[in-house]
Amino acid sequence: MRLPPIEVTVYPYECDAYGHLNEAAWLLLFERARWEALSRGPGADFFGRHGVWPAVRRATIEFHAAAYPGDVLAIDLHPEDVGRTSVTLTQHAVRTSDGALLAEAQLVFVMIDGEGRPVPLPDAVAGLFGVRGTARPGDARRFDLGEVSLAADVRGEGPALLLIHGFPLDRTLWAHQVATLAGWRRIAPDLRGLGASDVPAQGYTMASYADDLVRLLDNLGVHRAVVAGLSMGGYVAFEMVRRHRERLAGLILVDTRADADGPEARAARDDLAAVARSDGTRAVAERLLPRLVGRSTQQAQPHLVEQVREMMARAPTAGLVGALRAMRDRSDATPLLATIDVPTLVVVGQEDELTPPSMARAIAGAIPSAALRIIPGAGHLAPLEAPTAVTRVCAEFLEAVREGAT
Ligand code: MLT
Repeated sequence: MRLPPIEVTVYPYECDAYGHLNEAAWLLLFERARWEALSRGPGADFFGRHGVWPAVRRATIEFHAAAYPGDVLAIDLHPEDVGRTSVTLTQHAVRTSDGALLAEAQLVFVMIDGEGRPVPLPDAVAGLFGVRGTARPGDARRFDLGEVSLAADVRGEGPALLLIHGFPLDRTLWAHQVATLAGWRRIAPDLRGLGASDVPAQGYTMASYADDLVRLLDNLGVHRAVVAGLSMGGYVAFEMVRRHRERLAGLILVDTRADADGPEARAARDDLAAVARSDGTRAVAERLLPRLVGRSTQQAQPHLVEQVREMMARAPTAGLVGALRAMRDRSDATPLLATIDVPTLVVVGQEDELTPPSMARAIAGAIPSAALRIIPGAGHLAPLEAPTAVTRVCAEFLEAVREGAT
């Protein structure tokens, strides 16, 4: 658990006629310690930012000795169990003056949405409780598409929304959007070579990524989808425009660019591939991380930085090297922009250093019917760094294009 232990003082008003804490006061004290730990760590608005609320479903307290006014208690937090929608925590209260264990609590929380419905733990929340990102192969469905088999999260009913992750990431980048964009059939695949999808030795091009995704849509019986792509996912989305235009009902371009790699960028791709081969994908993660995640996220959400590091480090080397080759050799999508005739939303993190707002503005300006939304406090991985804000702008856009997407 990444939350620090907290010291709290017992006040007289919290104690009963016999001068010690009763059960209700203990519950409040444990709760105070949890919120204090959250405020000192990722922030008291942590759950709100991720679009969930932790509702206590069961609380039990075991008393060992009385606590009196003036006692200073050190209260820690331990995750016991982390499920799909629930978390079980234990807290211990130890008197600092003599080290006596006074009480312990066990609490079961269920993450709920605004309507009180249980929702899956967003990755950042799972990360807070010490669980890695959810590229849990078992969670995803597998789709045998002939040449490769892809893993994908498929959730909900309604018109289709295809969410394409960036490099060298996986489908869990979109965990919040997959969990919360109700009214849409959310399809978040791992591209070939990444996440839990097959890792072929060869065959990594923008065309093969785009064709894989069209085969996935075929497999799901989806003719048209709104296609959202982040960064490299945006390059794949452009390739879908090129090769499979009739399959797109709308486009969401997140933290991406339209132009191709110049000679310097191409050489840098080859250097990075050499690092991956010689030192492994963790070394690649260390190189990329400082510019992938925005300044504010680095300061306020260190657990998220860790989550992204792990996501990158677990990328298979062959898939990562293949993606670098595919990006290096991709065509310029700039001439394509003026021909895009589906409703388009361009989203960018205000602190994105790799594909900054100026670039997003130029893309939005070149596409005939595009809107631009800038997400404050987020860098290159806006859907993960500011999930609620990104989901909100996507939801507004999706509502506006729903009719044309069905
Ligand atoms: C990504 O996030 O997908 C990468 O930054 C794309 C790139 O390296 O061009």
